Amino acid sequence: MPGQLNEKPAATLFRLVNGYQVSQAIHVAATLGIADLLHDGPRSAEDLAAATNTHEPSLYRLLRALASVGVFREVDGHQFELTPVGDCLRSDAPEPVGPWATLIGEAYYRQTWGHLLHSVRTGENAFRALHGMDVWTYREGRPEAGAVFDRAMTGMSRRAAEAVLAAYDFSRFSCVVDVAGGQGAFLGAILSRYPSLRGVLFDQPHVVAGSEGTLSALVERCQVVGGSFFDAVPEGGDAYVLKAILHDWDDEVATVILRECRKAIGASGSLLVVEQVVGAPNLEPATKFSDLNMLVMPGGRERTREEFERLFAAAGFRLVGVTPTIVGVCVVEGAPA
Ligand SMILES: C[S@@+](CC[C@H](N)C(=O)[O-])C[C@H]1O[C@@H](n2cnc3c(N)ncnc32)[C@H](O)[C@@H]1O
Repeated sequence: MPGQLNEKPAATLFRLVNGYQVSQAIHVAATLGIADLLHDGPRSAEDLAAATNTHEPSLYRLLRALASVGVFREVDGHQFELTPVGDCLRSDAPEPVGPWATLIGEAYYRQTWGHLLHSVRTGENAFRALHGMDVWTYREGRPEAGAVFDRAMTGMSRRAAEAVLAAYDFSRFSCVVDVAGGQGAFLGAILSRYPSLRGVLFDQPHVVAGSEGTLSALVERCQVVGGSFFDAVPEGGDAYVLKAILHDWDDEVATVILRECRKAIGASGSLLVVEQVVGAPNLEPATKFSDLNMLVMPGGRERTREEFERLFAAAGFRLVGVTPTIVGVCVVEGAPA
């Protein structure tokens, strides 16, 4: 993260150190739905406070701070309008960021990041150290936290799907199984682009239960299956997508998941892992901070191409190619070895 133009090193560092304050302020604006309220044009802080049931002087201070970093723009008379950056917080934005902002400012999420030092000292997963359970069990028992997470994944998937569809050709497949595909946003985008393709959405039962809205127009071509990838993965596909799954787990567990996929996949099937791939030093902070997020939250890691190669080999696959996309994720393709 290089400094801004003419910024002194100490000023750069102060800006980076205080970055969590910006993040939390965006979280509050996203949670209050401010961007949707500004969709039709500028509104006053007073008006926004009435619409969000908040304390007007404090809301003004929040919006003023966010205007100073380009999320909103302050115009005459304590009025605010959207900037192109803030526009991405709208719920119907083409690349919605709001659900992610809502998730990462949640108290349990911040508390877990607050335990990063523990992970760095011990190598242990901060979430488990704090809560005595893994993050999936925690969310399963807290439907509201689970719903916030699922919405964040849906938002991320909408963004990634456009980029993956632009970079990778699915036309040779007849049935795509999305393994741990959340509530179907990614699979839905693929099926919508390829009208003769069939799909299977597979995830935990309480997660796929929320998929009707995403897949309702595709019911005739899409089967929805609830289960655990530690037990079995649905058979019958010729492409098996794992998007943002392997990075949630350490190598040992990721190998178990891949072996279940290997059992389900035919001899000529394709494994399509959609994830960030750790590349050159000093670049791509999004990938490297996502890796820290994996360390503290689910207890996994982002991987280099060589690490994917080893992981695939341990589960009976060979890596046949890596296709980059414009949003940072790649399609890491495997075939039965
Ligand atoms: C990071 S999310 C990614 C979701 C989706 N692939 C996407 O990119 O939007 C990880 C997913 O793994 C699912 N998951 C976790 N444990 C699972 C299990 N044992 N069996 C099946 N799915 C599981 C979660 O429910 C969640 O939807």
